[in-house]
Amino acid sequence: MRSPVQAILTFLILLGFLTHTLLNLIQQIPSVMILVVGPAGPIEGAYITFGNNFEVLQTDGLGRCEISNPVAGSRFSVASEGYFIAHDHLNGKGNTVSLKKLPLGDAANYEWIHPFEGEQNCAGCHSKIVQEWKQGSHSSSSINHRFLDMYSERKKGGEVIKGWSLSRELPEGKTVCASCHAPGVIAGEPGLEDISEVRGVNKLGVHCDFCHKVEGIKNVGVGFAHGRDLLRLSRPEKGQVFFGPMKDASREDNSFSPVYQQSLYCASCHEGTLFGVHVYSTFSEWLKSPAAASGLQCQGCHMKPDGSLGNIAPGKGGIDRNPMGMASHQIMPGGLKQMLQNSILHKEEIILGENDCVVKVQLKAVNVGHKVPTGYIDRHMILHLKAKSQDEEVKPIEGVTLPAWVDNSLGGNAGVLFGRPLLNTEMLELQPFWQGGTGVVDSRLEPETAKVWVWKFPRKIEYIQISLVYRPFWKEQQLIKRWVNQDIVVFEKTLVVK
Ligand code: HEC
Ligand code: HEC
Ligand code: HEC
Ligand code: HEC
Ligand code: HEC
Repeated sequence: MRSPVQAILTFLILLGFLTHTLLNLIQQIPSVMILVVGPAGPIEGAYITFGNNFEVLQTDGLGRCEISNPVAGSRFSVASEGYFIAHDHLNGKGNTVSLKKLPLGDAANYEWIHPFEGEQNCAGCHSKIVQEWKQGSHSSSSINHRFLDMYSERKKGGEVIKGWSLSRELPEGKTVCASCHAPGVIAGEPGLEDISEVRGVNKLGVHCDFCHKVEGIKNVGVGFAHGRDLLRLSRPEKGQVFFGPMKDASREDNSFSPVYQQSLYCASCHEGTLFGVHVYSTFSEWLKSPAAASGLQCQGCHMKPDGSLGNIAPGKGGIDRNPMGMASHQIMPGGLKQMLQNSILHKEEIILGENDCVVKVQLKAVNVGHKVPTGYIDRHMILHLKAKSQDEEVKPIEGVTLPAWVDNSLGGNAGVLFGRPLLNTEMLELQPFWQGGTGVVDSRLEPETAKVWVWKFPRKIEYIQISLVYRPFWKEQQLIKRWVNQDIVVFEKTLVVK
């Protein structure tokens, strides 16, 4: 029989022992160190991603990163600009990860991989992304018939192309277009001198392999070096490399580059001064926009995850990921019409006077990262007011009217043009950008800024139709070139005057 004293003593000794081992254990749940090195020593700022975790860690100035609460055996990836992504499993004693440097230089004789034909084609593994890209206009930028009808002098069959033609009006400018519209064409290849002769994969315009061989952006003037000339390409002499936004992509030929999530990447082709005219200004419009001020890049709207891509290469080595973290290649989500309608707010008001009828229209562009419209210089919108009395059209007494060069059938009508018209010296006719132009007034809608227009009509009007129409090209050229009408009605409204 033990005495109560003995029992208490045993209990205290046991408690002491337990606390000791527990403390020991806590001290041992220690952290583990991952050291990241390259051929020249430790790498600072390398990204470490665990499993499906969104949290990304970074190495310090000595290439080290402490992992607390390590779980031995867990898989992680290491990425750093200029290196291939590496993968490893966590070791109880910590890991040293050696990153492989990318090959230096850019092999101009590299043969582009076709998106959906031949060996190693992207669609074999990334079929969903290929489908999305095919539906957009990047995939037809070098053979799009409207582009070619502006570029060439004759159709493939020999028929003379009527209306504006770069090849007829400024033949020495013909080599300028390929750097953005067929960026994969290299010196000496068909397509460079005359883009209507592009061959093979370059008929697919801005294609997958081209966009994913971009390592960075050159340190030269944005807008003055165009497309491929602003992009720093890294095409391998042998082997393969794909650059992208992922820091944990699973293939050994993947490499992370931060530019994929920056507007600057798109700026290479969406900003351009050609023959002295600021033809493409989307990037500089974005720079001044509230979207840029809040850090929202082009990709944030034009490649926004739509939740449908959970695995980029299912069954081909791809890993299941959160689809809300995967970018979409459908660059006009919902289509242009829906995007225009969602981004333009409008308000109409009628104020009846004794002898007149005042009509106010307010427009405001919202949730857009640039002016509206943007892109190709001929894009424009027309706000048009049509007042009627006993089925007769009634002209306004006061207020802006549309010039005839916008559209012959609308000249003199109450309305506003939102565009960047390039006019001839008499200011009576529109010109293509390769002929320059005078009196360029940029009247497009500024993002997040409301503007009001006022017209005065005679009191007798019975109703008024107000519409906003988007046009990708000037009406006269569309008719001359016999293109299908691509007008988009953004909104249309009839107000009854009592
Ligand atoms: C205009 C250039 C461009 C073209 C063309 C392009 N991509 Fe991308 N791609 C990007 C950019 C930019 C991102 C990153 C977007 C982001 O993370 O916001 C990206 C992301 C990716 C990713 C990473 C996964 C994801 O969706 O985030 C894969 C894989 C990919 N692209 C494959 C392809 C394939 C295959 C094609 C051809 C069908 C293609 N890309 C065409 C620019 C392009
Ligand atoms: C290598 C040049 C190049 C790069 C890089 C590029 N684009 Fe484009 N993009 C073009 C060209 C050329 C067109 C016009 C194609 C046409 O209409 O034939 C275009 C058209 C577009 C359109 C209009 C689509 C439509 O259907 O009307 C959008 C939106 C767009 N690009 C967004 C982007 C975004 C966002 C990026 C960056 C992630 C980007 N582009 C990068 C060359 C490029
Ligand atoms: C044999 C299958 C296969 C083919 C063919 C293939 N890929 Fe991939 N690709 C993958 C896999 C697997 C991954 C990584 C998937 C993951 O981590 O979930 C990947 C990743 C990528 C990434 C992400 C890189 C990063 O760090 O963000 C890009 C970009 C990419 N591929 C582009 C392409 C392009 C462009 C082509 C065609 C020229 C192509 N791939 C052809 C299987 C393939
Ligand atoms: C806040 C979201 C947002 C951001 C950021 C944004 N866009 Fe847009 N973009 C839109 C919307 C909405 C439209 C449709 C309305 C319009 O045409 O302006 C559009 C239209 C376009 C068009 C089609 C023009 C046409 O009429 O053919 C192009 C090209 C384009 N954007 C390129 C870019 C580029 C390049 C960037 C970055 C420099 C960018 N966008 C940033 C929302 C955005
Ligand atoms: C800096 C890059 C760049 C250069 C250089 C360039 N373009 Fe473009 N082009 C674009 C982009 C980006 C778009 C798409 C903008 C949009 O959708 O509104 C486009 C669209 C167009 C369109 C409208 C196509 C359509 O169907 O809507 C025409 C026409 C055009 N370009 C003609 C030319 C001609 C001709 C040249 C050579 C003198 C040229 N471009 C040079 C970037 C460029």
